[in-house]
Amino acid sequence: MTILDGKKLSNKIRAEVKNDVTQLQERGITPGLAVVLVGSDPASAAYVNMKSKACKEAGIYSIAHEMPETISQDNILEIITMMNKNPNIDGILVQLPLPKHIDTTVILEAIDPKKDVDGFHPYNVGRVVAGLDGFIPATPYGVMELLKEYNIDPQGKNICVVGASNIVGKPMATLLLNANATVDICHIYTDDLKKHTLAADIICVGVGVVNLIKEDMVKDDAIIIDIGINRLDNGKLVGDVDYANVADKCSYITPVPGGVGPMTIAMLLKNTVKSASKREVKEL
Ligand code: GUN
Repeated sequence: MTILDGKKLSNKIRAEVKNDVTQLQERGITPGLAVVLVGSDPASAAYVNMKSKACKEAGIYSIAHEMPETISQDNILEIITMMNKNPNIDGILVQLPLPKHIDTTVILEAIDPKKDVDGFHPYNVGRVVAGLDGFIPATPYGVMELLKEYNIDPQGKNICVVGASNIVGKPMATLLLNANATVDICHIYTDDLKKHTLAADIICVGVGVVNLIKEDMVKDDAIIIDIGINRLDNGKLVGDVDYANVADKCSYITPVPGGVGPMTIAMLLKNTVKSASKREVKEL
């Protein structure tokens, strides 16, 4: 069994990003990321902090707009409009989930698609589905980079994606399909999940359910990508896979923490630099 070391690969990518930032700065461009955080969910606040810290380390300018839970949709839209117009901002990220009274679709569609470094705007979703260049959501993008690093080619593989969210499952399935895998997408209404996972050469799971994927649901030598992040009552972070019992059975597995999580941050930085490198083109 080989561990897919996301921490190590993310450090490599972050060093490359830092190098790219230095080169952009020689052209007078400092990449900028605006992060919008609404409310006081501790997990969201922690993610935003990690993203800001990673930007700083890479030389990317970042600004966090922190707003109370009660803020109106129009106020959020005003901030986005301001950031869309700000020539020093290359990426705009609205941390999800948003409070119930806010229409997430309206917010995401207000972001200039050319600054949509999360890849959640329907323009980028559509481009990625069509196999065109566009911003790829950071988490599935990170998984694809991790597979590439370990020479795991999805082509022709039976891959079970467990979870069908817009942020993880759907873009994950799309990227794997575009890489010529046979993709089976499972979700909360799937009957007999085990039947699907047992048939898979690769399982990608990200639903937020502790120990969802157990030993008897995984075929020998399968590849396991655990995108889940769950905090146990004792403070320990675990994924969606019963790691202790599954790990010995598979050929490759991502640990939690240290697998997909760090890759997400690295790919967000990469998307921000990609946007900044097109700054002159956008200004024409
Ligand atoms: N919430 C959970 N994951 C993400 C992410 O990748 N981006 C944003 N903006 N919000 C999230």
